[in-house]
Amino acid sequence: MLKINENYARLGANYLFSEIDRRVNEYKVGHPGARVISLGIGDVTREIAPAVIEAMQAATREMASAATTRGYPPAAGHDFLVSAIVEHDFRARGIDVAPGEVFISDGAKSDTGNIGDILGQDNTVAITDPAYPVYVDTNIMAGRHVELLPCLPGNGFCPPLPGGRPADVIYLCYPNNPTGTTLSREQLKEWVDYALEHRSLILFDAAYEAFITGAGIPRSIYEVEGARRVAIEFRSFSKTAGFTGLRCAYTIVPSELVATTAAGETVSLNALWRRRQATKFNGTAYIIQRGAAAVYSPEGQRQTREVINYYMENARLIKDGLEATGLEVHGGVNAPYLWVKTPGGITSWEFFDLLLRDAGVVGTPGSGFGAAGEGFFRFTAFGRRAEVIEAIERVKALS
Ligand code: MLT
Repeated sequence: MLKINENYARLGANYLFSEIDRRVNEYKVGHPGARVISLGIGDVTREIAPAVIEAMQAATREMASAATTRGYPPAAGHDFLVSAIVEHDFRARGIDVAPGEVFISDGAKSDTGNIGDILGQDNTVAITDPAYPVYVDTNIMAGRHVELLPCLPGNGFCPPLPGGRPADVIYLCYPNNPTGTTLSREQLKEWVDYALEHRSLILFDAAYEAFITGAGIPRSIYEVEGARRVAIEFRSFSKTAGFTGLRCAYTIVPSELVATTAAGETVSLNALWRRRQATKFNGTAYIIQRGAAAVYSPEGQRQTREVINYYMENARLIKDGLEATGLEVHGGVNAPYLWVKTPGGITSWEFFDLLLRDAGVVGTPGSGFGAAGEGFFRFTAFGRRAEVIEAIERVKALS
């Protein structure tokens, strides 16, 4: 008889953002004509940079000729994009990354979710709470034991080192989704030192590094000495260059990273991830990779920076507007997310319902990111300026 993966029974009924869509659609059916403003899922609203569009158009024209058309892309990505990443995102910042350590993919969601394929089921996994739901959900699907590291105002949203049994795998996302906070170099170093001591693996999600505005905040975990021996880093073009609909990201797996087999043999994680990708992934489309490479051209850099500045100005407007109503707001300075304490001690979902019903504004309930997110609410800065301003005015009118 056919059996299911029983671990799925331990998941919540819906993925967080599917549940939000469900509730918003239900509201819209009951309130035809209501103009709902979404500051919920972190999806981009600005147009793609002209340099990226031109590069994709040129790549599309190449596809139109038998002489220049392309078939399967290399599973780890085209050399032109890999070398642009190595030069611009790492070597230009004094970080040593080799082309063979870069794996191009269709998104950090896929990579942070799929990386578990190469890790044993009996690893203990530590995940910050709150966290991007993919980390917890995919480990539940795999049947792993998860320890949560509460990140609260009291500890400055800096995850405490695991107590008790050492963690084999640690997920860190900085700048953080959902709290919008960052870790200092010293705080990140504590984690690298912990992983070196316990021979753990840090899965470092740096999808929001382009939104850092403050000086001295690490953009890559490899800025910390020793990190190449303990960390995999995930990056994405989704938020940096508006690729949520185009799909392109990359993952760095340093050649020094190893894990052991049950028999005590040492195995390269770079080799395992290459094996996994070659088997289960057929590469990111050539046209999309050409677009991503154009992000690194001088015009691409200038144009994408303008868009990032636009979103960060949204973040400033949201932060100032909400603080003016007396709400406690975290984040929004080095990240496109604002983490707001719900007023009057109401729950995250109660605040969601109240905002939707009385203001027509959608955000994301903090408890959807984990138990420690209860009593918080996340706003994204990726909205259209006029809508952001109107949403804040509507929220202000409630108080
Ligand atoms: C979010 O809103 O947390 C993100 O947009 C989700 C994602 O990147 O998949």
